[in-house]
Amino acid sequence: MNLSVIGTGYVGLVTGACFAKLGHHVICVDIDKEKIRKINDGVSPIFEEGLDSLLLTYKDEINATTDYSTALQKSDITFLCVGTSSLKNGKIDLTFIKESTKQVAAVLKNKNSYHLVVVKSTVLPGTTQGVVLPLLEQYSDKKVGIDIGLAMNPEFLKEGVAIQDFLEPDRIVIGSYDDRSKTTLRELYKDFSCPLVETSLSAAEMIKYASNAFLATKISFINEIGNLCKKLGIDTYDVATGMGLDTRIGRSFLDSGIGWGGSCFPKDVDALIVWAKEIKEGARIIKSARDVNTDQPLRLIEILKKHIPKLKGKTIGILGLSFKPNTDDIRESRATPIIKELLKNGVHVKAYDPQAMVKFKQLYPQIEYCSKASEVLNSDATLITTKWKEFTTLDYHGKIVIDGRRLNEAKTAKKYEGVCW
Ligand SMILES: NC(=O)c1ccc[n+]([C@@H]2O[C@H](COP(=O)([O-])OP(=O)(O)OC[C@H]3O[C@@H](n4cnc5c(N)ncnc54)[C@H](O)[C@@H]3O)[C@@H](O)[C@H]2O)c1
Repeated sequence: MNLSVIGTGYVGLVTGACFAKLGHHVICVDIDKEKIRKINDGVSPIFEEGLDSLLLTYKDEINATTDYSTALQKSDITFLCVGTSSLKNGKIDLTFIKESTKQVAAVLKNKNSYHLVVVKSTVLPGTTQGVVLPLLEQYSDKKVGIDIGLAMNPEFLKEGVAIQDFLEPDRIVIGSYDDRSKTTLRELYKDFSCPLVETSLSAAEMIKYASNAFLATKISFINEIGNLCKKLGIDTYDVATGMGLDTRIGRSFLDSGIGWGGSCFPKDVDALIVWAKEIKEGARIIKSARDVNTDQPLRLIEILKKHIPKLKGKTIGILGLSFKPNTDDIRESRATPIIKELLKNGVHVKAYDPQAMVKFKQLYPQIEYCSKASEVLNSDATLITTKWKEFTTLDYHGKIVIDGRRLNEAKTAKKYEGVCW
């Protein structure tokens, strides 16, 4: 099929590259000219395992442009994959969704054949029908359900393993406005072996929010259990193993530590809480999950202060700046509140990350960036904030290490303490 993808971030570019691998022709659109140039050169503008090689291998099947018209005229299905970050008050920001929808609709006005628009960005229940649909009709002078198809197809990939997640998902959710949209997407996904869940537009939107809120809550839950275990001298990871073997619970997302970050959980949880309030419902469990997550990284500093009571003037090392390993994404990284707190305490911060230092330096130029992980260990104490594999090979002997991510190899340190074990 001929597809276009609007927005070439972690979701859009992975979607485009994977569909190209599956034999489709894909045109990617972005407003960022530099990203477009790189993609056309077969280079990924973001760090995601395997993406560079997909872009090079399928160079002839993927084109990138800033021009909506070329992309829409040459494709039959368009995926909207633009960002939906949060505003300062936690509300979802629909600016990019509205802008890209208007641009898509303006091109569809002059297109004679049927075109399916698929929202892949994470949007609150009611958005596809209540915001995207009216804009499509207004700017195209056409009717959704007749001339234009409309569907909502949330994405569940995880950064770091995004390509594998896209190609081998646990499920594919297709929310559709009309039957033709549903059958078109069914055809597109026909070679996937996972269950296809076909729903209304708003159920598809809610599945995404409910899944993210549940996973965030699961992590906060085990962190709360971890905090109790630490007080009682119980190994939280033994508890997680014992709990996780119960098939109703499952072991994944039971690794206690300093909490969740990234581009999705924090903003989706915030948006759900604000939206729940707007429709006069509570979101008490989800709010508590967020509260636990706000406090959790600062526990690392509390533990550090036990070992070094006066932090002023000390040098503290930070291992890991990305919000999780195998990505350069630093959005809502747990290292951020920790570094802010250290700076407030008059600490000299030395940091290293295999992929995220360039992005982090733009926001925090005042800290020292090391060229090797081992240099970080030449500090008064080191905090482990991201579980990069590279950190397993360091020599921790003789060091003070406070671990937020359960790196077993660091237990050889002179003084080692985990955040909740
Ligand atoms: N990152 C994830 O792990 C993940 C997983 C599942 C779902 N999602 C959801 O997918 C959506 C995209 O997330 P992301 O992480 O890929 O975002 P991102 O910020 O990495 O990428 C968004 C891209 O959209 C582009 N863009 C903005 N306005 C545009 C416009 N008018 N026209 C064309 N391009 C435009 C930006 O330049 C950027 O390249 C969000 O709704 C997010 O919640 C993200």
